[in-house]
Amino acid sequence: MTTPALGVCYYPEHWPEEWWERDAARMAEVGIKFVRIGEFAWSKLEPSPGNLQFDWMIRAMDVLDRHELKVIVGTPTATPPRWMIDKRPDMLPVGQDGRQKGFGSRRHYDFSHMGYRQESARITQLLVEAVGGHPALGGWQTDNEYGCHGTTYSYSPAAKQGFQNWLEDKYSTVDALNQAWGNVFWSMEYNRFDQIELPNLLVCEAAPAHDLDFRRYTSDQVAAFNKVQYDILKARRPDLPVIHNFMGRYTEFDHYDVAGTLDVASWDAYPLGHLAVSDEPDEVKTTYMRQGEPDYQAFHHDLYRAVGHGRMWIMEQQPGPVNWASFNPDPLPGMPRLWAWEAFAHGAEVVSYFRWRQAPFAQEQMHAGLLRPDSEPAPAYHDAMQVAQELKSVGIAGNAARGRVAIVFDYQSEWAWDIQPQAAGFSHGGHVRALYAAFRKHGIDIDIVSPKTSSFAGYDIVAVPALFAWNEALREAIADYDGYLLIGPRSGSKTENFAIPERLAPDLPSNLLDAKVIRIDSIDPSIEVEVKGTGAVRLWRERIETNANVVIEDVEGWPVLMSQGKLHYLGASGTKALVQRVVDYLIAEADLPTIELPPGVRCRVRGGYRVYVNYSTSPASLNLAEDEAEYVLGSAEILPAGVSVARLAKVG
Ligand code: GAL
Repeated sequence: MTTPALGVCYYPEHWPEEWWERDAARMAEVGIKFVRIGEFAWSKLEPSPGNLQFDWMIRAMDVLDRHELKVIVGTPTATPPRWMIDKRPDMLPVGQDGRQKGFGSRRHYDFSHMGYRQESARITQLLVEAVGGHPALGGWQTDNEYGCHGTTYSYSPAAKQGFQNWLEDKYSTVDALNQAWGNVFWSMEYNRFDQIELPNLLVCEAAPAHDLDFRRYTSDQVAAFNKVQYDILKARRPDLPVIHNFMGRYTEFDHYDVAGTLDVASWDAYPLGHLAVSDEPDEVKTTYMRQGEPDYQAFHHDLYRAVGHGRMWIMEQQPGPVNWASFNPDPLPGMPRLWAWEAFAHGAEVVSYFRWRQAPFAQEQMHAGLLRPDSEPAPAYHDAMQVAQELKSVGIAGNAARGRVAIVFDYQSEWAWDIQPQAAGFSHGGHVRALYAAFRKHGIDIDIVSPKTSSFAGYDIVAVPALFAWNEALREAIADYDGYLLIGPRSGSKTENFAIPERLAPDLPSNLLDAKVIRIDSIDPSIEVEVKGTGAVRLWRERIETNANVVIEDVEGWPVLMSQGKLHYLGASGTKALVQRVVDYLIAEADLPTIELPPGVRCRVRGGYRVYVNYSTSPASLNLAEDEAEYVLGSAEILPAGVSVARLAKVG
């Protein structure tokens, strides 16, 4: 499926049945093609154990079908009904503080609980039997936002048992585990696997390898939970895509692994809510409070395109104010249109607004929809209609163009630096996003790639920032790659068992990079160390012994950027200016074509078109780039929240 389309999230069970027909007719009028339903409807599908009530869902699908709407049916496992807790009281998750969470909201289940996993298989099977042959069915969504509300980890007896079994499988002998974790330190050695505790409620921190293994174990449970549903859904309808809706800036499990049993990765894009709850500086928060941070959405589109094996949807798109941040601003008029266009430019097959009608009751009554609670159109209703018409006239198709730059994003590195930051605020994702923004500022298309990638062929520049440990595939990819590479800071500074490698970071053969990190200087964030020329080092710098060529050094003479052939090593966290300088240097070395973009304007190529979006509150002027023929939507003058689409002279 390569022609982009709009969707909407709909909850027929929230509204009188007499409303469904008119709702569906209006959706079709807007130009919507996909409707997601059902992901929280368990108490309506099975109000008491074994009392199955799928008829209403089938009737709702009949109505949607009459209006030629395709339906994505969600498995309802994020909201087990109340009776389930009576049946399986120990399925409730346990927090890090050792206290069990209760019923009365959502996501109240434990990924390690095998009984609940069976219940999830049972309801999925029943759902498949009831609606699997429905003509309106267009795909499935598994569960809803795995891990949302801090629900990835559970410290329950089921998790402890599961963790012990997982460790025994991994290490075979307890001696091997003691060795791998370094348990001789502080007399932490175990005699048997059944003595091993979860890494919570200890006196101080657990051994980092213990903590990391617990995160790996938990991540595997999320993947296993998803696989159970995937297998059932695919067995009945191998032709239909199975999708999960992931979240923004969320890294508690390895999404690449979970997507091992998905056909498409989707994510839920709430640009204003995410900015409000982010750690962006106040200046960014106020400048972009009605638009969202200009690189945040794009980064996730590219990440989830990688997670989804090239296939990406937006399952939930913010339509107006949300309810869940401390402050929930009204978007700048036009932003719900811009966000959709940007997602399409980055390869989205479907952008589905959340939700059709604002609910006047329960937790999310302050969350906007395409319709107001009184069923009158909210502003995004018109945005959606406009996008649907524009999609028809522009005819953008195919996938996002392959990027010229690739950046490796690795979930385990997110966990590693969370476990052992050494400098508060040092994160893998922070480094990836800083590089991403610096390349994108020049209109360069970027791909995010998994650390299990075995080849970087075809990319002009590849960056591997803050990656905690190499794996064999990645070592090979680096050794074989003949483009420009940027590695560091902190890359390769641990083994997979979370120990310092024998030959020290970055742990690469000296024919590739003759450099050794011999000491770390972790710096209070209020202090910056200037580098010679533009920029400064902050938070983190490495004392490096090297015979490589020093490209940038700081004013105290510490090497900051080194090169050996086309391989570059960055030995520090930099200010925005330093990161930009490093990126600009690489772009110049690799001789990459750039587009100079006005502040707040960004672009991406898909299917022979370059889509420009303006995140700023001022109008801006574009110049037709060398490879562009004409504007087919908008023009060189791009208003705030505006979109301009240029057709490329030659698709290539
Ligand atoms: C998402 C969730 C939806 C809804 C929405 C509100 O995280 O999947 O069910 O709660 O947020 O913004």
